[in-house]
Amino acid sequence: MADKIFFTPAKGGAGCTTVVTGVAFALAAAGERTLVIDGDNACGCGLEICGCAGMQVFTAEDYAEGKCRAKQATVQHPRYRNMYIMPTMGLADKTALKSAIGELDGLFDYILCDGAAAGACGRAVVITEPYSPCVKACDVAVSRLKDGGMKNTGIIINKVNGGLILGGDIPYPEDIAAAVNAPLTGVIPEDLSLTVGVWRRYSGAYFKIAAQRLAGRQTKIPYIENEYSGAGGYFRRKMRSRI
Ligand SMILES: Nc1ncnc2c1ncn2[C@@H]1O[C@H](COP(=O)(O)OP(=O)(O)OP(=O)(O)O)[C@@H](O)[C@H]1O
Ligand SMILES: [Mg+2]
Repeated sequence: MADKIFFTPAKGGAGCTTVVTGVAFALAAAGERTLVIDGDNACGCGLEICGCAGMQVFTAEDYAEGKCRAKQATVQHPRYRNMYIMPTMGLADKTALKSAIGELDGLFDYILCDGAAAGACGRAVVITEPYSPCVKACDVAVSRLKDGGMKNTGIIINKVNGGLILGGDIPYPEDIAAAVNAPLTGVIPEDLSLTVGVWRRYSGAYFKIAAQRLAGRQTKIPYIENEYSGAGGYFRRKMRSRI
């Protein structure tokens, strides 16, 4: 049986699809057979972010209409062979996902559901930015999940800039986790390469740590702000404030 985890952004654009993809890459690289259910109904953003745009033959909609089996509605990543993506694209009634997941359960170690099929999942992760409006939305999202009966809900704080932490502009990740009363599953640094589809080793290390912590290991999360201290960090902070 796969470990099924529901991922949801605290607010639109917090980086949920990017984080799900990064964590899935890390799990797949560690030998875990991982399926991403790409809940982006409109344009299949998950496929795009994975670098698999246009590779689908069938989608979850075809599965729902009985045109294919669930496995046929997945795309195997060309490089990370343990990683599969199921695009939903145009799927009107998402209840079909639950039966698709039931069909695929035995084939995977992890099924990461990006904004879809919460009912099929045993635990959840809310993706938040470290900025105040998003943290407030995260608090609401965590409470709603708990109230809805989701037993285990953690948070991943995305787009964290260590310079802003040191300048007192955003809180420390541990303080955000305490404020929303949820365990800290991971921290992902702000990395503008991600916005242009480049996966760097820098943020990759943090995705790996989040994946390990999701898998139950107590890997320590490095202090992102340390990269912004000292003389080099001073100039890095100055450069960012000028952009
Ligand atoms: N760690 C990061 N650093 C910098 N930019 C990031 C980071 N993570 C995500 N982004 C950027 O933020 C934008 C939104 O990301 P993404 O589509 O993953 O968010 P989402 O929460 O899935 O959005 P939606 O609500 O539309 O599903 C994208 O441009 C993405 O490249
Ligand atoms: Mg998304």
